[in-house]
Amino acid sequence: MNHSSKPRDFRKSVVYQIYPKSFRDSDGDGLGDINGVIEKLDYIRDLGVDCVWLTPFFVSPQYDNGYDVADYYNIDPRYGTMGDVERLIAEADRRGIGLMFDMVFNHVSTDHEWFRKAIAGDPYYKDFFFFRKGKGEGCPPTNWASKFGGSAWQYVPEFDEYYLHLFDRSQADLNWENENVRREIRSIVRFWMDKGVKGFRFDVINLVSKAAFEDDPKGDGRRFYTDGPKIHRYLRELNATTFGTDARIVTVGEMSSTSMEECYWYAGHMAGALSMVFSFHHLKVDFAGDDEWVIVPPDFAKLKRVMFDWQTGMADHDAWNAVFWCNHDQPRIVSRFGDDGRYWRQSATMLATIIHCLRGTPYVYQGEELGMTNADFTRIDQFRDVESLNYHRILQDRGLNAKDAMRIVQIHSHDNARTPMQWDGSRYAGFMDEPERGARHAKPWIGVNANHTVINVEKENDDPDSILNYYRALIALRKKLDIIAYGDVEPLAPAHPSMFAYRRRHDGHELIVAANLHGKDCMWEETPDLAGFERVLGNYPNQRVKAYARRVLLRLYEANVWYR
Ligand code: NOJ
Repeated sequence: MNHSSKPRDFRKSVVYQIYPKSFRDSDGDGLGDINGVIEKLDYIRDLGVDCVWLTPFFVSPQYDNGYDVADYYNIDPRYGTMGDVERLIAEADRRGIGLMFDMVFNHVSTDHEWFRKAIAGDPYYKDFFFFRKGKGEGCPPTNWASKFGGSAWQYVPEFDEYYLHLFDRSQADLNWENENVRREIRSIVRFWMDKGVKGFRFDVINLVSKAAFEDDPKGDGRRFYTDGPKIHRYLRELNATTFGTDARIVTVGEMSSTSMEECYWYAGHMAGALSMVFSFHHLKVDFAGDDEWVIVPPDFAKLKRVMFDWQTGMADHDAWNAVFWCNHDQPRIVSRFGDDGRYWRQSATMLATIIHCLRGTPYVYQGEELGMTNADFTRIDQFRDVESLNYHRILQDRGLNAKDAMRIVQIHSHDNARTPMQWDGSRYAGFMDEPERGARHAKPWIGVNANHTVINVEKENDDPDSILNYYRALIALRKKLDIIAYGDVEPLAPAHPSMFAYRRRHDGHELIVAANLHGKDCMWEETPDLAGFERVLGNYPNQRVKAYARRVLLRLYEANVWYR
C-alpha cells in the first residue's frame, strides 16, 4: 500500500529518531549506514511510530558527525548511495512511516563548494558567509564564544579577516541576509520534497538571523543572534516557498536558548511557520545556568516548573511542542534523571510515562525504548565528540585535575547517546555482525556499551515487562485515546517534592497521570477524586490507591495513567 498521499496529523504522531552512524552497520566497516536502517524498518514499524527523523548523512568531512554538510544533494559514501536513500524512502512509505530529514542551514562545512569559492576570494560566495575585520592585531571582531568552546571567529590571513562559526571552526555560519543564500536553501528543501521526504528537522534554526556584530559584555554573544530580528520572516518565506505548499509535511525547528514567547510564533497553529519546536530549558536543570560542564544534581522542582510553564503557555497560545528527554546530544535519560542500576526498569518507564502523556508530539531516540544507559567510557581516547574533547582540555586549562575533568565529560558528553544501538548480546551488540573467528575486521567507530548483554532488543522483545514493551504500550495508548493528542493540560500537585502529575481533559473525558520521580515511596495527599477512573497503564503490576480516601501511595519510580 502506498501511504504517501495521506496527510498525517502530527499531534497524534510519535517520531523515532535515528542517528544512522550508530544504528546498524550493514557492510561491516564500523559505521552505521542507510541499508542498516532499511534492515530495521519492521522493528520501527512494530514500535507503532509514524515518522522517523534521521540525523544528517549528506556528504561531510564528519568533524561534527554530519552536522558539517559539504554537499546537501549527495549522500556521504560512508552511509550509502542516493539509490539506497531512495529505497529507504520507498520502503518506509510502504510501512506507513514518513521520513524527516535533518536540514542544517545555520552553517555549512568549510569543505562546501560555497566556502571553498569564498576562501578563494570569489566575492559572490564571500557574501554567503560573515567575513569581518578584527578589532586589531589578533583580536576578533567580537568576543562571542563558539558553542563548542573558544572564540566564534576564525582568522583568515589571506584576507586579514575572520569568519563567524557559532559551532566548530569547520562549520562556517551562512549569511541569511543574502537572498542568494536563501534561494539555495529553498532549492535544497524542494529537492528532498521531490524525492518523497515527508518532514524536516531544522537544526538550530533560530540562530540564523544575526542582529548585530557587537561585543557582549554580559555573556557569550547569544543575545545578538538567538531568535534574531528577521527570524520569523525567514521561516515564513521558507514555509511559503517550500514545505508549506504540501500539507503532508511535518516540520520541527530546533530552538537553541529560545523563549516561549518566540515559540508561540514559530509553532502557533495559525501563524507558525513550523509544525512544532524543540526547546531545551527542561534539560538544563542539571547545569549551572547555561554552563553544562559542571556536576549539579537535577533540580526536579525546576524541571516541573519549566515543563508545566511550557505545557500551559504553549497550549494557551495554541502552539505545539515536541516533547522529549533524549536525542543524540543528550546523555541517556535513565542515567540522568532516573537510576540506571537497581531501579533501571522502574525509573525508565516512569520517565517515559511522563513524556508520552503530555500535550505535544513525543520523540523517542534510538535505544531509549530499551532503557539504554550512558556510555561506560573511562578514558578520553574512547570519546569521539568534538565538544567533549574540547571541554576535557578547557576544564583542565581552567584548573580542574584530569580526574574531575573526566568525570564531568562522562556525565555530560553527547557520546553517551551515540554508542551503538543494542540489538542483541553478540560481540558488537548486533550493530555489526559477529566477525568470523580470527578474521581481520573493522571495529565500531565508537565503543559498544558492555551492558549490551543485558540491555538489548532481542532480550526485551518477548518480555512482557520490558521497557521496550512499555514504550510500545505508551505509543499504542496515544493512538487509542484522542485525549492524549488533543486534550487540555492542567498541572497537578505543582509543589509536591516527588510527584510529577497532571490532568488532561477532552470531549468529556479525563486522563490523570501521576509519577514518582524519586527512588523512595511517596504519598500524594488530596488527590483528585479518582472514582470512576480506570487505570489504563502503569509500570507496577497493580496500584495502591484508596480512591475513597483521596490518598495515593506511589512506590519508588511508580507511574500510573488513569482514564475516565
Ligand atoms: C545541533 C545538533 O543537534 C548538534 O548535534 C550539532 O552539533 C549542532 N546543532 C551544530 O549543527
